[in-house]
Amino acid sequence: MGAQLTNNDKRTSYVAELSAKNIGERVCLMGWVQRQRDLGGLIFVDLRDRSGIVQLAFDDNTDKAVFDAAFALRSEYSICAKGVVRARGEGAVNKNIPTGEIEIAVDELKVFSTAQTPPFEIVENSDVKPELRLKHRYLDLRRPDLANNIIARSKIAKIVRDYYMDNGFLEIETPCLIKPTPEGARDYLVPSRVHPGKFYALPQSPQLYKQLLMLSGFDRYIQIARCFRDEDLRADRQPEFTQIDLEMSYVTEDDVMEINEKFVVRLWKEFLGVDLPTPFLRMTYAEAMERFGSDKPDMRFGYELRDISDVLANCEFKVFADTIANGGSVRAIVINGEAAKFSRKEIDSLTNFVKSYKAKGLAWYKNVNGEVSSSYAKFLTDEENAAVLAKLGAGENDIIFIVADKNSVVYDSLGALRCEIAKRLGILKSDDYKFLWVTEFPQFEYDEDDGRYYAKHHPFTMPMEEDLAKYADTDPSKIRAKAYDIVLNGYELGGGSVRIHDAEIQSKMFDLLGLTKEEANEKFGFLLEAFKYGVPPHAGMAFGFDRLCMLALGLDDIRDVIAFPKVQNASELMTGAPALPDMKALGELSIAVVKEEEAAE
Ligand code: AMO
Ligand code: AMP
Repeated sequence: MGAQLTNNDKRTSYVAELSAKNIGERVCLMGWVQRQRDLGGLIFVDLRDRSGIVQLAFDDNTDKAVFDAAFALRSEYSICAKGVVRARGEGAVNKNIPTGEIEIAVDELKVFSTAQTPPFEIVENSDVKPELRLKHRYLDLRRPDLANNIIARSKIAKIVRDYYMDNGFLEIETPCLIKPTPEGARDYLVPSRVHPGKFYALPQSPQLYKQLLMLSGFDRYIQIARCFRDEDLRADRQPEFTQIDLEMSYVTEDDVMEINEKFVVRLWKEFLGVDLPTPFLRMTYAEAMERFGSDKPDMRFGYELRDISDVLANCEFKVFADTIANGGSVRAIVINGEAAKFSRKEIDSLTNFVKSYKAKGLAWYKNVNGEVSSSYAKFLTDEENAAVLAKLGAGENDIIFIVADKNSVVYDSLGALRCEIAKRLGILKSDDYKFLWVTEFPQFEYDEDDGRYYAKHHPFTMPMEEDLAKYADTDPSKIRAKAYDIVLNGYELGGGSVRIHDAEIQSKMFDLLGLTKEEANEKFGFLLEAFKYGVPPHAGMAFGFDRLCMLALGLDDIRDVIAFPKVQNASELMTGAPALPDMKALGELSIAVVKEEEAAE
């Protein structure tokens, strides 16, 4: 049986807090055995807790019962060790760990619990399969690297609260069981027992509640809020994730950007000791697309998109000329000075890369020390080739990549290609922080499959009034919104907007989104009703908290900052969620699970 913890067993510090300064002190430490080394009359045990590792020493002077207990220790035993901090012997100092100058001469040892051999050794940088680590996440979390991420996340949450509280924000919780919303990603639904056949949804964000809080007069709201979206997972996306969600009354876009920019500056200073230059760069959506092919451009490098349609409009090469004639464009990126690094194999691989963004091909031109080769040059006249080079300012040792297609495909593929090339060339540094505000997003996005407009941000976003007046009845796709995103190194870190505070404009929006009055009432009646009672102008935004932590820590997988993340197919490997519930519970919910074959009939 394992030993019991008593009132005499009080931890005096975490192990990594100890150093040569503590020599001579008596300490009581708790943790796990990282490893035990038996050197005959001498036993060393590495004791690990969430802070790191310290060495326990057992030798001739150790009481026999304690020595024997140390002899029996194995990896991951849960123990308490008491003893005196002493300097390590000559030559035994380990400069690689903070506690490397000291060890604990243990005189009392308790084993609370033994351990089976763990499924993987709890060390950094081992090549254990991620699936196995996730199945035993509680063990992986003992790894100081991962533990440090979780600890950092907690520290960042504190800085968030401190900053916003200092600025007059109130932390208010909003419900998690809410009315299903039709816009945005798919909802996670929760059946109601009391109302058979009816469902709650888990919130995709606290959007409407925070707007209603403004109506109630709370002025400045913040919440570190859990959000749920049933969408495809990626390295920067989880089905449940956390937002720093906030809303303010009586503010403009500029005010929201300013106050949140100051938050980021404070976070980077307090957490990383980095002074960020301000103000952050601002760019309209239109400019971001035109120059970088993306609404979340990575500003750490150039390789900007350049439109070369004008010099190719009349060429004989059908791929280019027909695309332009059909309303598309031909655009290029130039990688200066690096042409020699792009072998045919590399170019083929990049061609496949752009094809995954629906590009039909990738035309290229390179000049390696004056030796020219190209996939398209032979289809153009000398004048046309010269015009392309002149327009792009390309010369010796430069390589040009060209995509011809409808604009959306050109933007997507070249926008992704410039990032992919930067990655392959190894020029990206995770501690080079290039923040950017992207503004003036389009209000609507047209979905060709559904033949209708969707709100690009959400249906409560205020359009730019001048655009609404001009285009509402002719071309809604031209209406810009008072919406903004904050972007860091190619990631959308957060986004928000000025909200509609006018029932008439809100109705117009629902109208343009194809909702009838009845549908709008049925879905958002509570909001329209609330809007009858004096709405303050308000605006807000939400940061992706997980992404923020990930980027502040220089990581590229959101799972590394989440204690218990889900995998690609939205399941949790440790507990096996989701799972079939108890059939009786389903009965109570008036729910029957239909097998796939039956459902297809
Ligand atoms: P939006 O949908 O842009 O805005 O979300 C805000 C931020 O949340 C993060 N995010 C995610 N992080 C991890 N996993 C996901 N699945 C995920 N989805 C989004 C992103 C994103 O920028 N209510 C509005 C905000 C507002 O207008 O105030 C909203 O939710 O970093
Ligand atoms: P082809 O005559 O089809 O062999 O094309 C000649 C070159 O143009 C090849 O390098 C193709 O990859 C490239 N190409 C084909 N379609 C496109 C396109 N839509 N945009 C850019 N390059 C293309």
